[in-house]
Amino acid sequence: MSETPVSSSSVASAEASKRYYGHKLKEIWSKSLENPEAFWSEVAENIVWFKKWDKVYEWDPPFARWFIGGILNASYNALDVHLKRGLKNKVAIFWEGEEGASKALTYYQLWREVNKFANALKKLGVKKGDRISIYLPMIPELPIAMLACARIGAIHSVVFSGFSATALADRINDAEAKILITADGLYRRGKIVPLKTTADEALAMTKTIEKVIVVRRVGLENTPMKEGRDLWWHDVVKDVEPYCPPEPMESTDPLFILYTSGTTGKPKGVVHSTGGYLVWVWATLKWAFDPQPDDIWWCTADIGWITGHSYVVYGPLMHGLTQIMYDGAPDYPAPDRWWEIIEKYGVTAFYTAPTAIRMHMKFGEEWAKKHDLSSLRILGSVGEPINPEAWRWFYEVIGGGRCPIIDTWWQTETGGFMISPAAGIELVPLKAGSATFPLPGVHAEVVDEDGRPVKPFERGYLVILAPWPGMLMTLWRDPERYKEVYWSKFQPNKYLQFKITPPAIYYTGDYAMKDDEGYFWLMGRADDVIKVAGHRIGTAELESAFVSHPAVAEAAVIGKPDPVKGESIVAFVILKSGHQPTDELRDELKMHIRKTIGPVATPDAIFFVSSLPKTRSGKIMRRVLKAVVSGGQLGDITTLEDAASVEEAKKAVEMLRKAMEEATKK
Ligand code: PRX
Repeated sequence: MSETPVSSSSVASAEASKRYYGHKLKEIWSKSLENPEAFWSEVAENIVWFKKWDKVYEWDPPFARWFIGGILNASYNALDVHLKRGLKNKVAIFWEGEEGASKALTYYQLWREVNKFANALKKLGVKKGDRISIYLPMIPELPIAMLACARIGAIHSVVFSGFSATALADRINDAEAKILITADGLYRRGKIVPLKTTADEALAMTKTIEKVIVVRRVGLENTPMKEGRDLWWHDVVKDVEPYCPPEPMESTDPLFILYTSGTTGKPKGVVHSTGGYLVWVWATLKWAFDPQPDDIWWCTADIGWITGHSYVVYGPLMHGLTQIMYDGAPDYPAPDRWWEIIEKYGVTAFYTAPTAIRMHMKFGEEWAKKHDLSSLRILGSVGEPINPEAWRWFYEVIGGGRCPIIDTWWQTETGGFMISPAAGIELVPLKAGSATFPLPGVHAEVVDEDGRPVKPFERGYLVILAPWPGMLMTLWRDPERYKEVYWSKFQPNKYLQFKITPPAIYYTGDYAMKDDEGYFWLMGRADDVIKVAGHRIGTAELESAFVSHPAVAEAAVIGKPDPVKGESIVAFVILKSGHQPTDELRDELKMHIRKTIGPVATPDAIFFVSSLPKTRSGKIMRRVLKAVVSGGQLGDITTLEDAASVEEAKKAVEMLRKAMEEATKK
């Protein structure tokens, strides 16, 4: 690895930057966009193809197809290749359970389990292209189930185990899943959560599931099992063949669907391909973190999110790494649980989220100081902008002032890292809070409302100007929504230089700016998406959950800056006549949201109001609400919402302030 030039000041010296940027990284980046065929042909050789592609890509905006004609299998690339390369007995996963259990699985053992479970699925009638919903905590059966699906060509749809029955049912219904894989329960902060009971509630709202496979995780007695439908995992893998040949998959066959929040109520089913996605994940992990054969990799993300798909399951396994998988809360039984794990296994690469770092900052550095963290060589951050204070704490206290922080900006839709320091190519001087530069293949720009590039230090919208192998293929059975959400906000113009044609502009939904050295600084969402502890939650989704309660007539939800979670959820609610604004109702509404979406979406504050500030066209003025909640001045808000009546807005604000004051008095 190259020298690690780190500037912990927010602006590194221009000289240091010139020394590094403009060399290898820029050269490779330019090559990737000037001759994508040659570039990606070379990169794609790093994974194993049963048959090589005929054409590197086809770009019919906004649909891209990568490595057309190529045949491969994801589970083969994650497992079989290592058995042939002498890594058979290398540990793939060191698993730790919150309750203190631990387990090690070698590549061979993981391969065995995947083969058996793949045959079990086949025996249950699962065919290529079928959708399988997976609702499991962070136990080895989760990656095993995903890889077994990939092995037989079934499309997995993992649903975060913290989601509610309704959220699970919506996702099963949209994907028309045939099988659900779940567990009897899970441990959270020492308590047992009966997951199967929640799954059963979801199943009552779905029609497509034929079989439910249940892992015995916590040994709950009286787990409800429906005769003829529900089967125990340990039973289905009993009498099956130990080897399952990997299904030859087209590069453009979907590997998985992962649902994510958008600006409307219905979650979007992001579809990722097999070949393009795997090449992208392989390459981005290599470029950003420079994985080494003796690394102990630990990405703390739950596999229920894209970070877990790409950098717990497919990425580290394709690279033949040994990794940690921890099923539990980061502060249980004590705030040093994570640091204890790092010491126990000698973790070398540690990838986590700013919200977790801020939480640990609050606990205090003495918890980290109790442990030897000197094995760490590189750190990573993802999910939301990392504030300079958290960056420095992470750098000094956890990294001992030794480890670069790889701040990776990306999204569920992008499949893998997009803007990130590239320790595997050439590390530029880091700036606390900047994700630095786009990786090869990523043509990122920051533009104004009209799609023109903005000046240095000016905030604009982050857009991507060229297709890349890891980009989503479409939204599940909704190509129109795919076009509209990502490709319609900006039209190509003469001020932007497109390197790959035909020109088209991918809208990320994020604000960003570039500094005078071209470093990218991510500045949060520009749309109605809230990031609570790194989890992406749509305001529309929350609002429709509120109005599904019989007492609620209307609701407006916004994100409020939060020192630990990044943002917290604040709701303004108008009650239907006949309902009184009581504390009991407030608690009931909080419970209702937890039940409808999941605990991650629990509102921090609910204010009862009699009206909401709206534009003449009836749109709720979120900016007004935001200004009120954060105590900001209304000032220029009237110019932002030109359709609004100034007086009406002012009146509404007064009323909102009063409602908030009253709620706080109590
Ligand atoms: O707003 C950006 C933020 O997370 C969004 C994507 O969320 P999701 O699809 O859930 O994926 C999260 C994990 C990749 C982005 O639109 N985001 C993600 N990483 C960063 C970030 N914001 C700033 N800096 C980051 N490193």
